[in-house]
Amino acid sequence: MIKDLFKMEPSGQTVSVRGWVRTKREMKNLVFVELYDGSCFAPIQCTFDRSASFDAETEDALKRLSTGASAEICGLLLSSPAKKQRVEIAAKSARIFGEASAETYPLQKKGHSLEFLREIAHLRPRTNIIGAAARIRSRLAFAVHAFFQERGFQYIHTPIITASDAEGAGAMFEVTAPCHKGDFFGRRSFLTVSGQLEGETYALALSKIYTFGPTFRAENSNTARHLAEFWMIEPEIAFAHIEDGMTLAEEFLKYLLKDILKNRPDDLAFFDERVQNGLVSMLETISESGFAHISYTDAIKELEKYSDKFEFKPVWGFDLQSEHEKFLTEYVVKGPLIVTAYPKEIKPFYMKQNSDEKTVQAMDLLVPRFGEIIGGSEREDNLSRLMERMKELGMDAAPYWWYLDLRRYGSAPHTGFGLGFERLVQFVTGLANIRDVIPYPRAAGLAGF
Ligand code: 4AD
Ligand code: MG
Repeated sequence: MIKDLFKMEPSGQTVSVRGWVRTKREMKNLVFVELYDGSCFAPIQCTFDRSASFDAETEDALKRLSTGASAEICGLLLSSPAKKQRVEIAAKSARIFGEASAETYPLQKKGHSLEFLREIAHLRPRTNIIGAAARIRSRLAFAVHAFFQERGFQYIHTPIITASDAEGAGAMFEVTAPCHKGDFFGRRSFLTVSGQLEGETYALALSKIYTFGPTFRAENSNTARHLAEFWMIEPEIAFAHIEDGMTLAEEFLKYLLKDILKNRPDDLAFFDERVQNGLVSMLETISESGFAHISYTDAIKELEKYSDKFEFKPVWGFDLQSEHEKFLTEYVVKGPLIVTAYPKEIKPFYMKQNSDEKTVQAMDLLVPRFGEIIGGSEREDNLSRLMERMKELGMDAAPYWWYLDLRRYGSAPHTGFGLGFERLVQFVTGLANIRDVIPYPRAAGLAGF
């Protein structure tokens, strides 16, 4: 692939590449074709010297090749006189696989808006920006597995179809199909909002687990940070308290940043130049820094000092708005921040209560420019306290009998969190809209194809 050619010592050896034409420029005696195959950011330049003679197939290809066409080009690998690349191909032959009509190919020109590209989701991976985001996403997914596997976590596939509302938020898609007995599953079933509850059952058997799969939320928030279908990573550790979860979250995020800085510098350089200036140095700084901590109560006190700056006034007992989260990370601590001890009313039923009876052992990790990227907690491991909390919230405990069993048999303190994978990719690329970091975004009013 092209990435391998860039690593080779150019000595006139014969090589061949297959890919798509980024650009074709014709000079008097030279034809330059830039070919990319998606293996790295840069295309490779293939130069055809018209003073040489080519076979009929190559002549035909040179005529029909245009931006977007697919081709195989063979030639000699030489060091390049051009500044931006180390090697190029002195082309000897070319063969076209498929043309792309210059009249109708939608990506004929560079510089299309991201909004336009969303309308052609099937072609947009061919652009520099979406291709780079896809490579970063792929590498980050690999790094997620590497991080947990290196630390002895087991990867658990939690179900996508479920009967329980893990977050108690009620924003679930219902799943059903016609069948002779009425409901297909015999009871109302939904797409999961989180693998946590089932993940807990395996953590209390295998000690350290993680999930990494699609999750679904029917929330109608049409924002640049919300999707109806997104991927989440949820580690869960037994015999662990909230502090262990915070340490793990910090180590995890730093590991991912270091990995991507090391392994996708080409794509990151592009995002730094075109999307968010200073991105790379910000990621480097965060990957080396210690994260700040603050309690929710202290965060509210801090925000109250700047009350007039906000559209939504900070008030104890209400969730932090994204403007509050951004302010805390960008102006107060100037870096990532872990907020703890949130009021129990704004957090799900399963979180362990603090002795003040008002707050829970929750932790949200906020990052600059972005706000919440991770949410987690220590879980209530005491049966009667958990049942009491469910009653307070008016929840029917019956469907959760299996979850409550974890507190009946061999209960243990345990902690976990969830990282929204698209938010991570957004943070790493600087892309403003979450719809540009997942191949086929699903959001309210937008199914696409
Ligand atoms: O904070 P959340 O709702 O936490 C949970 O689901 C817990 N069960 C996690 C756990 O403790 N195991 O969601 C976790 C993360 C958020 O911090 C955010 O990054 C992401 O998931 N997220 C979304 N990402 C994209 N679109 C949405 N609609 C999202 N909702 C949450
Ligand atoms: Mg959350």
